[in-house]
Amino acid sequence: MERLTSSPRLMIVSDLDDTMVDHHKDPENLALLRFNSLWEDAYRHDSLLVFSTGRTQSMYKKLRKEKPLLTPDVIVTSVGTEIAYGNSMVLDNNWIEIMNHKWDRGIVEEETSKFPELTLQSGTEQRPHKLSFFIDKSKVQEVTKELTQRLEKRGLDIKIIFSGGKAFDVIPKGGGKGQALAYLLKKLKTEGKLPINTLACGDSGNDTELFTIPNVYGAMVSNAQEELLEWHAANAKDNANIIHASERCAGAILQAIGHFKLGPNLSPRDVSDFLKYKADNVNPSHEVVKFFLFYERWRRGEVEICDTSYITSLKASCHPAAVFVHPSGAEKSLRDTIDELGKYNGDKKGKKFRVWTDQVLATDTTPGTWIVKLDKWEQTGDERKCCTTTVKFTLKEEEGFVWEHVQQTWSEATQVKDDNNWII
Ligand code: GLC
Ligand code: MG
Repeated sequence: MERLTSSPRLMIVSDLDDTMVDHHKDPENLALLRFNSLWEDAYRHDSLLVFSTGRTQSMYKKLRKEKPLLTPDVIVTSVGTEIAYGNSMVLDNNWIEIMNHKWDRGIVEEETSKFPELTLQSGTEQRPHKLSFFIDKSKVQEVTKELTQRLEKRGLDIKIIFSGGKAFDVIPKGGGKGQALAYLLKKLKTEGKLPINTLACGDSGNDTELFTIPNVYGAMVSNAQEELLEWHAANAKDNANIIHASERCAGAILQAIGHFKLGPNLSPRDVSDFLKYKADNVNPSHEVVKFFLFYERWRRGEVEICDTSYITSLKASCHPAAVFVHPSGAEKSLRDTIDELGKYNGDKKGKKFRVWTDQVLATDTTPGTWIVKLDKWEQTGDERKCCTTTVKFTLKEEEGFVWEHVQQTWSEATQVKDDNNWII
């Protein structure tokens, strides 16, 4: 969040399972990839991405290995009982203090064990401020009432959340995704960085609270769970700031950005002709996002080999002396590298090949010179590689952005067996 010097244009606070990530109907993660390109293209530089999940940090890390998730600025885990910032996920200790208020894990454990209706979820789901169970839907009301009373008598102030038709979480009263969002908004406000717009997105019971925070737009995905829809029908059906989208998962986020007019919502992935497509932000990030999308299409065989117009224009926008430094350390002329792309047309056809960019950030170091830094991911089947890419551009009045230098290094997360297949 430090990277922003003023109010973010948009803050998206999204649940992960069955909201950002479609576990059922989108095996190629296309909706997520569409969201990703839009975010990196149009929002990353001046907006905030917050993931808010019921998962623990370690289960979140597991999901990141399985799905092409972007790196969020803030990650709220364990049903809003833990908040962490940045790449290295530094925990917010003030929030932990708040979670300790009128909370005693031992007592919750003792009292919940007296309910045969509650089946403990696996150990990986249990946290200092979250005890998670499964329950039969028909027992929820009765157990919630009885358990709340018992814990109150023992001096605790707790909250019970029912999600996904079966999950039963016990957390501190001051916790939960909604309170975590309210806390973040307050913190941002004191730093002078209150977002201009905030959009919350979710699908299940533990997301309900997100839709109760003032001045926050809400999108319930089309595939929302019954408990969330019931809550909405009973409590918020006339609230025009909340929509029940007609699109599933990440598609609903794009839809909501458009519906509430929060900014551009055309994903570059949905653009077929990059030459005609000019984003409204004058930012070289756009060139990089576009290039890697083209690169994916080219290798997937989705661009006709005869249609070299984009390649031609790309080459023309490279400085003749521009160099590409391959992650292996080898150096080549950037124009030659682009020429070489020719022979890779369609080489990944039918191979579940995807490319996405993450944390695309541009800085104009000296007037007219931009450095764009990003993580570039490439996936073929189940194998993934990531490299940190740095591109230097100059802005010329006549030609627009000119590629001056591209350098790539393998990121720590990448185990490179062979790099013959890595072109750019
Ligand atoms: C996630 C968590 C689980 C929790 C559920 C509902 O699935 O892994 O422990 O009960 O969200 O909040
Ligand atoms: Mg969910």
